[in-house]
Amino acid sequence: MDASLPRLPRVLITSGPTHEPIDRVRFLGNRSSGRFGSALADVAAAQGHRTVVLQGPVKFSPLRTDVEVRNFSTCSDLQTLLRQSTGGFDILIMAAAVADYRPKPNPALSGGKFRRTNAPLTLELEPTPDLLAEVSATRQPGQLLVGFALEPRADLLESARAKLERKRIDMVVANPLEAMDSPEAEVTVVYADGRVTELGMLSKAEHAPKVLALAVAEWRRRVGAKG
Ligand code: CTP
Repeated sequence: MDASLPRLPRVLITSGPTHEPIDRVRFLGNRSSGRFGSALADVAAAQGHRTVVLQGPVKFSPLRTDVEVRNFSTCSDLQTLLRQSTGGFDILIMAAAVADYRPKPNPALSGGKFRRTNAPLTLELEPTPDLLAEVSATRQPGQLLVGFALEPRADLLESARAKLERKRIDMVVANPLEAMDSPEAEVTVVYADGRVTELGMLSKAEHAPKVLALAVAEWRRRVGAKG
């Protein structure tokens, strides 16, 4: 490698929904498709970044064969993969739509399934761990953490800022609710120091190189000339 060239940051991307089991055959999930995460991964690999994707049960996977894909189903699976993977990366982009709540483990169901009766049924949910906050608490110097937010348009900036602070991360890619499972999105990138970059309404394939470029630029800004 030519030592005069700047180092390309290694990129770890999470993509897609989680499926949290209710019993052996049912789950709680969401409509995330993996479209944004897979587009980001293909762009990063095409630019020569070492690129790993932690991928849930998606509709869209990266197309390039030089993207390394590791699969998860639940928040807990993703937590394990993140603990194994975050050490070797410079930029983490958490595009996955991780469940905030999951069914509380129920010993009566662990080996089987709910039977239909005429009585109402109550599912008890427990909060999941905040994985980004966990990565942030153990992050190595120089690692850049990028979260995603899906929020009602009116609360977008305020919610993105609250997430930046609560999770102690560096950037949030904020999307209005309509972006879920849609080919396009109106993206606003919000930084921990208050800067805001509006990317406007584009397809997710068009957004991917722009979002990656902003993350790489921010990483370079933070690591200074060392990058
Ligand atoms: N995320 C995470 N761990 C979770 C849930 C979400 O790391 N258990 C990550 C997502 O991958 C995404 C960002 O956090 O990058 C989205 O946060 P969100 O779920 O919207 O945040 P909350 O803290 O749950 O905020 P709110 O309740 O306001 O939606």
